[in-house]
Amino acid sequence: MKPLCKEQRGMSRRTFLTLSAGAIFTSMMRHNAVAASNRQTGPEFIETTYQKDGGIKNRALIAYASRCGSTGGVADSIGQVLHGTGASIDVRVVGNVNDLGPYQTVIVGSAIRMGKWLPEAVEFVKKHRDALGQLHTAYFVVCLTMKDDTAENRSKVLAYLDPVRKEAPHIQPVDIGLFPGAVDFGKLSFVSKSILKAKGVAEGDFRNWTSIRTWAAGIRPALLGM
Ligand SMILES: Cc1cc2nc3c(=O)[nH]c(=O)nc-3n(C[C@H](O)[C@H](O)[C@H](O)COP(=O)(O)O)c2cc1C
Repeated sequence: MKPLCKEQRGMSRRTFLTLSAGAIFTSMMRHNAVAASNRQTGPEFIETTYQKDGGIKNRALIAYASRCGSTGGVADSIGQVLHGTGASIDVRVVGNVNDLGPYQTVIVGSAIRMGKWLPEAVEFVKKHRDALGQLHTAYFVVCLTMKDDTAENRSKVLAYLDPVRKEAPHIQPVDIGLFPGAVDFGKLSFVSKSILKAKGVAEGDFRNWTSIRTWAAGIRPALLGM
């Protein structure tokens, strides 16, 4: 049987059916809060270290937040590109990172839910804002709006980061990667699935590995100085 992702473990169909329409929204917010404190491990979350001999000098962290795993794939792909150019890379879920001391470079990325980075990604930036202000940084965003890479959609998706900018206006990322993500209805809670279906969202994996790798290669000199 397919393992449940964190998304599904948070709320049962029965719970949903007992909720009134007004309570659905409240329930979703509660679900997010519960998941935020309980989502740091699981088979759907990639965490990797790509070690390079002598990589102490150029060590980068790619910290990401995800609900159903597609953002981890993006983070890992970025990590592979940067590792291939001579850096040691840690790919980690944001909640599993305590210390930025070992890193010269930090890339932070998140899936989008309801027009925002996931709360733990914003919390990560807030918690480490002083350190991040001293390091080379980049952000990335994984969402469905970027399925259509238009100027209008780019500007809409950049606005998703407003709460992040508000928390840490002094952090100047060298770039912000905007990437299409993936939706697998089989990994979503009944509520999330219903929301997407009501909006006519189609299932699929829209991640564009070429554009992710091109972005990573492009920001490498500014981030790692090599
Ligand atoms: C309940 C729900 C809400 C979403 N809200 C948005 C949104 O507001 N804007 C957007 O572009 N994509 C939205 N998405 C799409 C996700 O950002 C996309 O599927 C992403 O790849 C999920 O990443 P993950 O697999 O790492 O959790 C939403 C997806 C779900 C399930």
